[in-house]
Amino acid sequence: MASDQLHWNSIFSNTETTELGWFEAEFSATEKLLNKIPDWEEATIFLAGIGVSGLADKLYACGASLVLNDISSSALEQLKARLQDADGRTEWLCHDLSTPLADENGKVDVWIDRAVLHFLTEEADIATYFENLRSMLNVGGYALFAEFSETGAKQCAGLSVKRYSTEEVANRLGAGFELVEEFDHEYINPSGSPRPYIYALFKRVET
Ligand SMILES: C[S@@+](CC[C@H](N)C(=O)[O-])C[C@H]1O[C@@H](n2cnc3c(N)ncnc32)[C@H](O)[C@@H]1O
Repeated sequence: MASDQLHWNSIFSNTETTELGWFEAEFSATEKLLNKIPDWEEATIFLAGIGVSGLADKLYACGASLVLNDISSSALEQLKARLQDADGRTEWLCHDLSTPLADENGKVDVWIDRAVLHFLTEEADIATYFENLRSMLNVGGYALFAEFSETGAKQCAGLSVKRYSTEEVANRLGAGFELVEEFDHEYINPSGSPRPYIYALFKRVET
């Protein structure tokens, strides 16, 4: 099965939000790292593969400007209908992050990826994802990752995943990024099954 727009649109069109295998009612693990970033509420935050996550509503309510990305148009339509943007602080980007982003996209201060990168299993796709991140993230900005750990599940959403250590994420980011903080986190999915994740926050100190 391919991790393409058709696949993800089918999931988001046919599944209640709270039944999604990655649904979160609260975001304390992400917030623990986010709170290490000075003045993140004033930042422009890129939410990679945001799906229909309530993290978007929460960050918006705190004052952040958001670039909301997903491969799934269905997910973004649902989220757009829910997140009423009265202040013009959102930008919507339906795009597959394993393909190059256009140069005209603006820069961002923070990049957050929960459970997106690990769906890229081809080396070329992973390399392009990181090129996209480096092309959009300001020097002085931060990249926050939450991915299945090396002891984590081998599949999600009917797809094989690539599992990560913090070291591997660091190596793929390359020189110019420094690890700020990391921890292991056990997410319990709506079926009650444990899903071990790594959480890691990096600061971009130079290009
Ligand atoms: C497991 S869900 C996580 C959703 C959200 N980040 C969260 O924590 O609730 C994976 C998300 O990544 C999106 N996705 C998968 N592959 C993608 C890609 N190549 N580019 C952008 N988004 C992608 C899916 O549509 C889905 O919304």
